[in-house]
Amino acid sequence: MATAQVTSVVGARPQFVKLAPMSHAMADAGIRHDIIHTGQHYDDRMSASFFRDLGIAAPNINLDVGSGSHGMQTGAMMGALDEAFVRDRPTAVLVYGDTNTTLAATLAATKLHIPVAHLEAGLRSFDRAMPEEINRVLTDHGSDLLLAPTDLAMRNLDREGLAGRAALVGDVMVDACFYARDKVIAGGVGVPEEVPESDFVFCTLHRPSNVDDPDRLTQILHALRSIPTTVVIAAHPRLLNAAGRLGVRLSTGADNIRVVQPLSYPEMVATLLRAAAVVTDSGGLQKEAFLLRCPCTTVRDTTEWPETLIDGWNILDPACSSFTSGVLRPRPNGAVGHPYGEGNAAKTAIAAMRTAGLIGV
Ligand code: UD1
Repeated sequence: MATAQVTSVVGARPQFVKLAPMSHAMADAGIRHDIIHTGQHYDDRMSASFFRDLGIAAPNINLDVGSGSHGMQTGAMMGALDEAFVRDRPTAVLVYGDTNTTLAATLAATKLHIPVAHLEAGLRSFDRAMPEEINRVLTDHGSDLLLAPTDLAMRNLDREGLAGRAALVGDVMVDACFYARDKVIAGGVGVPEEVPESDFVFCTLHRPSNVDDPDRLTQILHALRSIPTTVVIAAHPRLLNAAGRLGVRLSTGADNIRVVQPLSYPEMVATLLRAAAVVTDSGGLQKEAFLLRCPCTTVRDTTEWPETLIDGWNILDPACSSFTSGVLRPRPNGAVGHPYGEGNAAKTAIAAMRTAGLIGV
């Protein structure tokens, strides 16, 4: 097998969205690019559907690591990635975001002295109880090139002494989101029939701190029932598993909550374009709501995307105290600019990798 110039390591749903613009831009630039899928996510709707819908080539390798505790999962990925990297010796490894896959790939590559570029570097929630915060900090400190999406991310890296390795490239989620939005507007992207035409709130929940505790999950569901319109929950398997295990019913059948399967990326964008508002604990969805101008209420007390809070497009409501009237608040109407860039981050990231010597000229 010829040595890849860049090997992307992905494994969890949001990483496939970020991979799409990167793999297309690498193809356009004639860069030999391999994809390793760790298998962190494996259900069709959490994984393969994204490769199909976003036109990403099938992974060169799937490590099939699957679910597990953080340590077991991260360790299993490291072992399998070590073998793959020793065998194929990529010139550079590209890691995405803040999942266990991100950290495992960073550790496995740096221990073999293979340069690592971290896409979406410099984000901080300053909440060390979040597994993602640990993953971000350790990945940034282990990586050779830090591809930052925002000015604030650059400042965070500077504060940690990492400015010399950082480059501001914008956010590849903008590339992916606007591409999908344009496809939806051009027609041909459907949504599940349970999603109304309008006048509904779109909701996702998957953070362990929100779904793994029965009292907390019940509190959030109670607040969702107080919203005076239909709430469509696209249920992550973690939420379904937790609700089943804890004996919590997501919908009584007689309330305003409708539960649907996880949506494909184009379906999700189409749904956001129809929704009156969003309730979520996902980082990615907060930003997609902001980009598509849908007011968002975030069920967390921190966000690593504080730019979304401009003008109240996104509000943090960990106590769910403003759901009854706040979720359906009027849309802000001020100009918000482009804090995440204008949709050319993938190309800029590749240019930064060339400048840093990670990709030959
Ligand atoms: C992971 C990431 C999180 C990201 C999220 C996006 C970490 C620490 N967390 O969280 O940052 O926001 O992905 O979805 O890396 N499961 C299935 N089928 C699947 C995948 C998962 O049933 O295809 C179930 C399993 O019960 C599994 C649970 O979901 O144990 C959690 O999956 P895991 O990948 O560990 O974490 P996420 O909550 O998805």
